[in-house]
Amino acid sequence: MKQHTDARSYGMDHPVDLPTSRMSWPRPSAASAFVERRSRLSRFLGGAALLPAGFAPPRNFPANRYAFRAESHFLYFVGAQVEGAALWIDPERAILYAPRPHPDAALWTGEQRSLEQLAEACQIEVRPIEELAPGVDVALVPPQGAETALWLAELLDRDVTAGGGDELAGRDAELADALIRVRLQHDAAAIDQLKQAAAVTALSHRAGMSSTRPGLREANVRAAMEAAILGSGMSPAYGSIVTVHGEVLHNEHHHGVLGEHDLLLADVGAETPEGWAGDVTRTWPVSGRFSSTQRALYEVVLAAQASALAALGPGVRYLEVHRAAGRRLLGGLIELGIVRGDLEDLYARGAAALFFPHGVGHLLGLDVHDMEDLGDRAGYAPGRARSAAAGDRYLRLDRDLLPGMAVTIEPGFYQIPRLLSDPAELGDLREVVDWNVLGRFADVRGIRIEDDVLITENGYEVLTESIPKHPDEVERLVSA
Ligand code: GLY
Ligand code: MN
Ligand code: MN
Repeated sequence: MKQHTDARSYGMDHPVDLPTSRMSWPRPSAASAFVERRSRLSRFLGGAALLPAGFAPPRNFPANRYAFRAESHFLYFVGAQVEGAALWIDPERAILYAPRPHPDAALWTGEQRSLEQLAEACQIEVRPIEELAPGVDVALVPPQGAETALWLAELLDRDVTAGGGDELAGRDAELADALIRVRLQHDAAAIDQLKQAAAVTALSHRAGMSSTRPGLREANVRAAMEAAILGSGMSPAYGSIVTVHGEVLHNEHHHGVLGEHDLLLADVGAETPEGWAGDVTRTWPVSGRFSSTQRALYEVVLAAQASALAALGPGVRYLEVHRAAGRRLLGGLIELGIVRGDLEDLYARGAAALFFPHGVGHLLGLDVHDMEDLGDRAGYAPGRARSAAAGDRYLRLDRDLLPGMAVTIEPGFYQIPRLLSDPAELGDLREVVDWNVLGRFADVRGIRIEDDVLITENGYEVLTESIPKHPDEVERLVSA
């Protein structure tokens, strides 16, 4: 393993050995990409803004901590994980205020970069954090970390609450809008990061499929998938979902045993050291063979995904992509005899949402749900708001798509007991479901198929295309 000697390197704020000769990732972005991003943001600002990196929360004493992951807006404009730092940016300049290396760091965590080295690596003026004057007047967007919020509140002598991006006003709202303007359409460096995340996410899903055997636990498959990510120098982009209970949409448990007749749903993605995410779901049969009922419903979900993908392109309203998936899913359920009636009438009455209650996808970027720290401000175009309708309520994106945006496309079919057995949820949809036919599909609890897509000038590119999803291909890989 050779010492990575480029000016830019990953690590908290010290150079890290990267096995650059043997792996094509993770590849850092050039410092010039961040210089360019800062100068674009400066052009959209009316005054000064502060973007903090944040702090790693302690577990039980200060040196036993959760892994540090810088706040995303900081990462976007600095590209380095510098704990305790903050980026000052105004219409004329950008300054990185950073803590000097702690004298004990060389003993406990390894030599850290000096402020001069940081300035060289990030191509930015760096000053010691103590020079950030208390009480300065700057715009902020809410940080995620509670400790960061406290630090900012004390420094700036104003109320700062972690989270809560929906309630911004005045200059803070203007800053949020400027951030969205810069970040919504990904630049070349971002696209390169997304492609790296997609490549490692693909390794992870292949590892998951080929490690699956009846009798293992969900945790074993999760371990194989995360090993592929960690071994590639990345980390999971979010809490991995690896479960035979796919009907629990964000299942956080991994103790289940894989039964011979189960489907396994894996929603797992890699994150590059600069914070760019992959977000992919595949669903496969534990035995390596779909039952006829599992295959029939799997093909319905795959067709719904194909309809959503076919609808994508610049200028397309994402709500219509969501509806294309819902209609195709419902059409498939009608063909299988699970629901009865006229497709348009059933769709309008919310029948698709009984089995597909979530949105077809969301923005993807420097986080699995890019910029959702700003509430619906990033996902919803000005003048648009979430609909209260059952099928649309959880849709996180309703913009007209633009080249350079990245989104997920992730329809699913689920038999969720709360939706299907609660008379209040069902209402008059109870009569449109053929419960006898549905009963024959009891070996399908949850199927989701999710890919990451970049919108281009002329259409779109599926970044995660290489991950098998055709049922024959999935069967081959699981059985191999
Ligand atoms: N992995 C979370 C999601 O798909 O939104
Ligand atoms: Mn997703
Ligand atoms: Mn996902």
